Amino acid sequence: MATTQTSHGILADSQSAAREHVVELLTRAYWMEVETVMSYIAASTNPDGVRAREIVESLEEDVDEELGHARQFAARIKELYGVVPGSLDFTAEQSYLQPPDHQTDIVHVIKGVIEAESGAIEHYNAIIERTEGVDPVTQDMVIAILRDEEGHRRLFEGYLREYEMEGLA
Ligand SMILES: [Fe+2]
Ligand SMILES: [Fe+2]
Repeated sequence: MATTQTSHGILADSQSAAREHVVELLTRAYWMEVETVMSYIAASTNPDGVRAREIVESLEEDVDEELGHARQFAARIKELYGVVPGSLDFTAEQSYLQPPDHQTDIVHVIKGVIEAESGAIEHYNAIIERTEGVDPVTQDMVIAILRDEEGHRRLFEGYLREYEMEGLA
């Protein structure tokens, strides 16, 4: 008796509701990463001044890393029988990561990055909680991505501390 159905795990027929829910969570994560790529391209290009170099180089690296995250979320959406959305479904949310009035205002950029990373950390923790016992593969993937975001936030918290120490933030 040949069958193409699997009876175990998140791909099982009986799991279609859970799967749709996970795809929704992954789609939100995908958009967050795509918007972060846009914001970090701008934030790594706009700044002026010698003080900005470290931040610029750090964000240039992050652009590639966040793009990698977006691709992983897209691939997982597809694996769960979802469809990666088109650009017309996109709604921007990162008001805090718009270019500052002055391109030497690095503190604005640092704070914006910390807020973006914090938002990702919050959402990814929620995905990890909701996939517990339901979809270990998604959970495992998101745990690895969460570690990257925690690393990003920690790095930029360090930058902010430095500016605060100098009375610049
Ligand atoms: Fe990311
Ligand atoms: Fe990040």
